[in-house]
Amino acid sequence: MLDERVQAVLARLEAEAEAEREAGLPPERRTLPVGPEAGRLLFALVAANPGCEVLEIGASRGYSTLWLASAARILGGHVVSLEADAAKCEDWRRTIAEAGLEAHADLVEGDALETLPRLDDAFDVVFLDAWKHDYEALFALARTKVDPGGVIVADNVVSHRDELDGWVAAREADTTLVTVTVPVGSGLQVSTVLSPPAPTTP
Ligand SMILES: C[S@@+](CC[C@H](N)C(=O)[O-])C[C@H]1O[C@@H](n2cnc3c(N)ncnc32)[C@H](O)[C@@H]1O
Repeated sequence: MLDERVQAVLARLEAEAEAEREAGLPPERRTLPVGPEAGRLLFALVAANPGCEVLEIGASRGYSTLWLASAARILGGHVVSLEADAAKCEDWRRTIAEAGLEAHADLVEGDALETLPRLDDAFDVVFLDAWKHDYEALFALARTKVDPGGVIVADNVVSHRDELDGWVAAREADTTLVTVTVPVGSGLQVSTVLSPPAPTTP
């Protein structure tokens, strides 16, 4: 499923993330990777899709990208990763090069609230893992780029339940989606797109 190069980089990032946690670094300076179980779920969602076009919002140092890009590589898919933090972008490039996945993932550096509207592509799978106060705006932007049949996955809906409660409820009430919370890792919300977004009222 994952080659030895990818496994070695995943293990390095897991060890570094643990060291950051023990050192008490503030969240904005930490890697905050999804972890192996959530990684496997992301892999499973992408690997089954021939030519899967993946959008990742909040790539950090590339841990989740490794899972997404390894899966996309199998059937000719591709990942576009968005990340705002310049130091993390530098580490992301090192991560992807070390794993030999450069042909399968590209990074767009900058605030996704600005870079995402400029992307022309449509995506089959979106992974949302940015700061939680941006979830509503980022989901709305990403939603316009996913056709029926596509899937949007959001992380931390269990670990950040208090902050994201209303947001989760709104996804569950949206009849253009079918949404389920999967209790894996920090809690993943999986929304399959059934129909185009409802028009917004002016
Ligand atoms: C929880 S971490 C992502 C972890 C990563 N998905 C992984 O599993 O390895 C959140 C990341 O989102 C980035 N981020 C937050 N808001 C963003 C935004 N509006 N645009 C781009 N990146 C953003 C942060 O800089 C941070 O690196």
